[in-house]
Amino acid sequence: MNHIPILLLLFLSSCSAGVFQLQTLKSPSFRSKLISEGRYAHFLANQQLATGSQPFIDFYDDFYLGNITLGTPPQAATVILDTGSSNLWVIDADCIECEGFAYTRHPFNTNKSSTFENEARKFSIQYSSGAVGGFIGRDTITIGGNLKIWFQAFGVADQIADVFQYQPIDGILGLAWPALAVDQLTPPMQNLLPQLDSKLFSVYLERKVIPAHGEPGGLITFGTIDTVNCAAEVDWVPLTALSYWQFAIDGFSMGSFTQVKKAQAISDTGTSWLGVPTSVLSQIVKQTKAVYDTINHLYIVPCSTTYFHPDLIFTIGTKKFIVKSVEFVLDVQLGRGNCALAIFGMSNGGFGPSWIFGNVFIREYCNIYDIEHARIGFAKARQAF
Ligand SMILES: *[C@@H]1O[C@H](CO)[C@@H](O)[C@H](O)[C@H]1NC(C)=O
Ligand SMILES: *[C@@H]1O[C@H](CO)[C@@H](O)[C@H](O)[C@H]1NC(C)=O
Repeated sequence: MNHIPILLLLFLSSCSAGVFQLQTLKSPSFRSKLISEGRYAHFLANQQLATGSQPFIDFYDDFYLGNITLGTPPQAATVILDTGSSNLWVIDADCIECEGFAYTRHPFNTNKSSTFENEARKFSIQYSSGAVGGFIGRDTITIGGNLKIWFQAFGVADQIADVFQYQPIDGILGLAWPALAVDQLTPPMQNLLPQLDSKLFSVYLERKVIPAHGEPGGLITFGTIDTVNCAAEVDWVPLTALSYWQFAIDGFSMGSFTQVKKAQAISDTGTSWLGVPTSVLSQIVKQTKAVYDTINHLYIVPCSTTYFHPDLIFTIGTKKFIVKSVEFVLDVQLGRGNCALAIFGMSNGGFGPSWIFGNVFIREYCNIYDIEHARIGFAKARQAF
């Protein structure tokens, strides 16, 4: 598993102009860590739990991170690469309360950048899991070493919700459409387009072994399809809205359950699990004989190495996409041979997407986010096992 990133780095050096790659890093699962320490139930008790829904970005768990730089000379920052939002923000070095637990942040010191411009207007973004506030600045940023944007506008955060205190991050880089951006800021991705061979980016996420560990996690490729880590055959699906990476799903089945129903879905690298309508979740629970763990607030099943679970089968257009149990049955350190069902229920009340294809899906299929043709592509990910 660990030798793969070395191969990826080698590939990096052979990139042509107009194609850029950024290796991603997977954070340890916060949820697994607390569970293994016996502290998760206590943590949940002190959080305002959203009932029947899950934040679009479930920061309680693991996610995929990337390194960027800001300013002149460049200052490093490790950010969540999030296709479920459209703004870039980083933590301000002046924020005393932003220090975080068990992670040494790399906050952005605006004083130390000769190219920084303060726009002197407020920044505020509300995620379902919490808000971030500060002011808007502009500076040079680099992504993946070679990709450079001059005068990128971003949030410099001096207020972050409690939940971010637990995360090993310096900010978030949103990769969704401009319509989703707050404060009318142009998302970095839009500013990158003139430099790219093709106006798209591919996301490959490496399969995890133990979520509690942070391991090298994959690769994001700007300007071309990643054919090293993803199969050559790509199934393209038109987008149904240009805000999230949103598309229509036509049906779902698992074991003896089949549903033919058109619904809206989004692809979101910032969501670690899979979000499904609550009615579908109860069917999945039946098919897997999962049991609700009232202490940890998740569904548990025997770990898949000792037990067979049927595949999740999504119908999109005329194609079927299969997610195997190795992706949706995760060892989050519950012990006693128990694993978590990495699936949560959402009741959207008829508004917004009712399915979230988070990292559980993206590890199985590389997602290719095609801006030029307003479509998303799915290609089987080549996993090491
Ligand atoms: C990103 O930066 C952090 C902190 O400087 C470093 O530990 C990590 O290895 C880097 N990750 C990648 C994928 O470059
Ligand atoms: C940046 O400069 C301002 C004004 O001199 C000062 O108040 C602030 O503490 C400095 N911040 C850092 C992180 O050095």
